Amino acid sequence: MFGLDKKIAKHFSLDEDVVLFNGSCLDLLKDIPDGSIQLIVTSPPYNIGKEYERKLKIEHYVKHQETVINECVRALSPTGSICWQVGNYVNNGSIIPLDTILYPIFHNLNLVLRNRIIWHFEHGLHCSNRFSGRYETIVWFTRKTKEYVFNLDPVRVPQKYPAKKYFKGPKAGQYSCNPLGKNPGDVWDIPNVKSNHVEKTEHPCQFPVELIERLVLSMSNKGDWVFDPFVGTGTTIVSAIRHKRKGVGAETEKKYINIAQERIQKAINGTLKTRPMGKAKYDPKLNKNKTDVSSDKEERLEQLTFLESQEEYHSENR
Ligand SMILES: C[S@@+](CC[C@H](N)C(=O)[O-])C[C@H]1O[C@@H](n2cnc3c(N)ncnc32)[C@H](O)[C@@H]1O
Repeated sequence: MFGLDKKIAKHFSLDEDVVLFNGSCLDLLKDIPDGSIQLIVTSPPYNIGKEYERKLKIEHYVKHQETVINECVRALSPTGSICWQVGNYVNNGSIIPLDTILYPIFHNLNLVLRNRIIWHFEHGLHCSNRFSGRYETIVWFTRKTKEYVFNLDPVRVPQKYPAKKYFKGPKAGQYSCNPLGKNPGDVWDIPNVKSNHVEKTEHPCQFPVELIERLVLSMSNKGDWVFDPFVGTGTTIVSAIRHKRKGVGAETEKKYINIAQERIQKAINGTLKTRPMGKAKYDPKLNKNKTDVSSDKEERLEQLTFLESQEEYHSENR
């Protein structure tokens, strides 16, 4: 699976491995059979007037989301998961956390909320009338079953003291924590894709690949279908391919389809550059706030992003 000859199909069929559909997700969903998708992960438009969306009245936005979510749940396998990644809708200076208004839709479809993951990042708009927003959420739902897929081992993160052992009692000499690493928890500190991030394209709100890799590895198995109804630059499909899953997504805008096509092809060829999963974040304190440029290319990019954000911050708050 996923040799250099893999083709990117334009229409869905269970016989394909990779499908990129240029059109509305509701049209794509018509071709996806009931119960066939193991993992649905997406970041829908937030209704904040980005270039690819028309700002709707909130009730109309929620209604549209409900239609898409209904169809996604129909396509979801009995052991599958849905992860809806959202931020805040802002109206006249008032913020409305979108996951709180979308939650009843999932609940009414009999789904169970397994985690509300806080995705924390450092870069974004600098607010002067409230604290700057530095997190979004991923709400993870499954059906009402104990049989849902959850693989913890592939996504464990390093323990603080990995070599620590019990020094007395019946377990003396054994590791006191799991040597494979610890559960990553529900607060994820992963850099968002801004300015100098190695994955940046012209899309204003791309997922970082490492964010989706963690979901793909923990909530699906090799050969399963992973679907993103609002696929943008194809990040979800890229993450699926990376881990030998099948990937399908819809995107209405031709210019993002073109970017997605290119990134997916590079992922198939093994040439797409991404920020490695689990790479430590650039830490200005560890680097003693130095302003000289690191010799490591990726660290240099993160350092530049950090300095650039400091610059924006100072200029806006002067
Ligand atoms: C928040 S972005 C997703 C970005 C994506 N996570 C990535 O990593 O690139 C939402 C995307 O949904 C697309 N979109 C909006 N309405 C759509 C629809 N009905 N069907 C499919 N895509 C749609 C927009 O053009 C936009 O690119």
